[in-house]
Amino acid sequence: MEMLKVEKLTKIYEGKVSYRALSGIDLSIDEGEFVGIMGPSGSGKTTLLNMIATIDTPTSGKVTINGKNPFALRKKDLATFRRRQLGFVFQDFNLLDTLTIEENIILPLTLDKKSLKEMDQKLAEVAKKLDITSILNKRTFEVSGGQRQRAAIARAMIHSPSLLLADEPTGNLDSKSSRNAMELLEKINQEEKTTMMLVTHDPLAASYCHRVVFIKDGKFYNEIYRGENRQTFFQQIIDLLSLLGGDAHELSSVRL
Ligand SMILES: Nc1ncnc2c1ncn2[C@@H]1O[C@H](COP(=O)(O)OP(=O)(O)OP(=O)(O)O)[C@@H](O)[C@H]1O
Ligand SMILES: [Mg+2]
Repeated sequence: MEMLKVEKLTKIYEGKVSYRALSGIDLSIDEGEFVGIMGPSGSGKTTLLNMIATIDTPTSGKVTINGKNPFALRKKDLATFRRRQLGFVFQDFNLLDTLTIEENIILPLTLDKKSLKEMDQKLAEVAKKLDITSILNKRTFEVSGGQRQRAAIARAMIHSPSLLLADEPTGNLDSKSSRNAMELLEKINQEEKTTMMLVTHDPLAASYCHRVVFIKDGKFYNEIYRGENRQTFFQQIIDLLSLLGGDAHELSSVRL
């Protein structure tokens, strides 16, 4: 079954000079699939993710998530839809500094008025899975970057979203924490069958995906599927990136 279907999606940012950031993108992601989106800086990756996340509206084209067109929903229903169906992980973690790690993680459940018992149970479950049980009472500035990102992943997961969207989740992490975060996302994908879409510059992070879709100048460029071996896939991703001609600095940040 398709969890996400994007049809002929186009985004033109209007302004003094209007800019066509996406041109007729088609993309389908199956239930349980883990898909990476790569492409040079400015190619439209975040724009695409923002349309799917319903953070911004397309100029034309259609988005279907779990059988529903979010843009056809009324404002109140859209808020509920986003809260229940989608999970988000960002580069800068987006945690609230005034709250503890625990309070940050249960925030989506609080908004949905779940019972305390259910919240405690879910919290214990995700905290264990992400290995952050011991830091739940700390504040965001008292823990490491890797722990912050794991807390952000816990928050994105606690309500069991249909679709998890991540934009450069390893962008602020060192290579060890990146691997750790990707292994956790992989585990969540396998154990909970959560469908995931990950935007990234990082070939190592992308090598954990089942499939990587490359975009260039707002258009589909190519896609490759992972076989049995992640190392081989990693090399294929690097080869495609060099064909794509990203910025030199992007490739120099490649972690082996
Ligand atoms: N709000 C906006 N208004 C006008 N132009 C925008 C806006 N947001 C993005 N753009 C332009 O659209 C293009 C695509 O931007 P986008 O952020 O999607 O790129 P990206 O692939 O995510 O790049 P990066 O890898 O650097 O994050 C860029 O040329 C950008 O300058
Ligand atoms: Mg971006």
